[in-house]
Amino acid sequence: MKAVVFKGIGDIALEEVQSPIIQDPKDALVRITMSTICGTDLHMIRGSMTGMQPGTILGHEGVGIVEKVGADVKKIKVGDRVIIPSTIACGTCDYCKKKIYSQCDYYTHNDSQTNTAFYGGPKKSGPFNGMQAEMVRVPFADVGLVTIPTDVTDSQAILLSDILPTAYMGVEMADIQPTDNIAVFGCGPVGQLVILLLKRSGIKTIFAIDNVPSRLALAEKQGAHAINFDHEDPVSVLKKLTHGKGPDKIIDAVGIDAEQPHYTWADSSDHQAQWLPGNAPWQALQWEVDALCKAGTLSIIGVYPGPFHLFPIGTAMGKNLIIKMGNCNHRAYIPKLLEWVHKKEIDLTPFITQTISFDKVIDAYKHFDKREDGWLKVALLMPS
Ligand SMILES: NC(=O)c1ccc[n+]([C@@H]2O[C@H](COP(=O)([O-])OP(=O)(O)OC[C@H]3O[C@@H](n4cnc5c(N)ncnc54)[C@H](O)[C@@H]3O)[C@@H](O)[C@H]2O)c1
Ligand SMILES: [Zn+2]
Ligand SMILES: [Zn+2]
Repeated sequence: MKAVVFKGIGDIALEEVQSPIIQDPKDALVRITMSTICGTDLHMIRGSMTGMQPGTILGHEGVGIVEKVGADVKKIKVGDRVIIPSTIACGTCDYCKKKIYSQCDYYTHNDSQTNTAFYGGPKKSGPFNGMQAEMVRVPFADVGLVTIPTDVTDSQAILLSDILPTAYMGVEMADIQPTDNIAVFGCGPVGQLVILLLKRSGIKTIFAIDNVPSRLALAEKQGAHAINFDHEDPVSVLKKLTHGKGPDKIIDAVGIDAEQPHYTWADSSDHQAQWLPGNAPWQALQWEVDALCKAGTLSIIGVYPGPFHLFPIGTAMGKNLIIKMGNCNHRAYIPKLLEWVHKKEIDLTPFITQTISFDKVIDAYKHFDKREDGWLKVALLMPS
């Protein structure tokens, strides 16, 4: 089968690889019909999320059709159309019972040597081969797959695999109240879905911070007040617009590849380079902690991998901030969010800006990596 293979930092290829096989009686094999490219994939290719093993198949967002099931798979059947949650969990350990699937004991063993298990990630996440492939092996298929109603299309379902549940968890952790004013740092696909969910919850004042004009324009179209950090200092603007107080809640949808304003770059032409890691991984966190009102809440869903340790804890302590964060517990949220999609209470299709045939995936990666105008979320259409 064909798959996107991580070869090394800045080096990926669409290659012919061996198809997966059932390795455990609880496994299923799923033929992928649609996958995507995610901001998390970029962290790994840029080298800012370390520990990738050459040969790993990338991709952790997918929908497809079940091709084969192991002897102990009870609920899922061959032929089912399914969403594959990005994180992998056993469904029966103490953490899974509490719906904290991203800390499943079966994989993380409390020893901090392992991390949230997910598809297409670094060694510490499994490693498991990912979904930018014609076929994927799904462990614990009865908990690791969610069936899709026939009248929900792949394009309507694909963002439920990772980024809508992630945005939902970001909003949940922010513990929003109706009168809150809320800032969202990062207007990539995750940040846009956070804004969608905040609007749906009736939040009136939303600030959106980024420096990509087309992304800020979409945030504005959704009803947010856009702040371009290349043109104005986000902390002073947020203070000014909240009568000196600062936002009540802030959601970080940036992660480790955070950037400083371009006017601070020694050579701004660097920004055009491919697979360039962010030049200031602490930048968004620093702005967020500085801007928040006293005793405000910071909810972090942007990914900051293990070795990163530059968080402004002193300022946060001095302001009595509440800080919550984590890898998404996808399986906990997908059924409810799928119901919203099914009942047409939310429409996710406008957030997919490109639907690309799988043979053009490497080219699509390059456009998405450079955050080119209009490239927000790429869906990959697999060969039928
Ligand atoms: N916690 C989870 O389980 C989970 C799941 C999915 C994605 N994520 C993470 O969410 C983050 C966003 O994902 P995405 O797909 O939208 O990625 P993305 O790279 O498309 O978006 C990140 C955005 O942040 C902007 N940005 C850079 N520096 C900034 C700064 N200093 N201030 C404000 N904005 C800044 C970029 O211009 C970009 O638009 C990533 O870190 C991704 O790994 C986390
Ligand atoms: Zn993702
Ligand atoms: Zn578990």
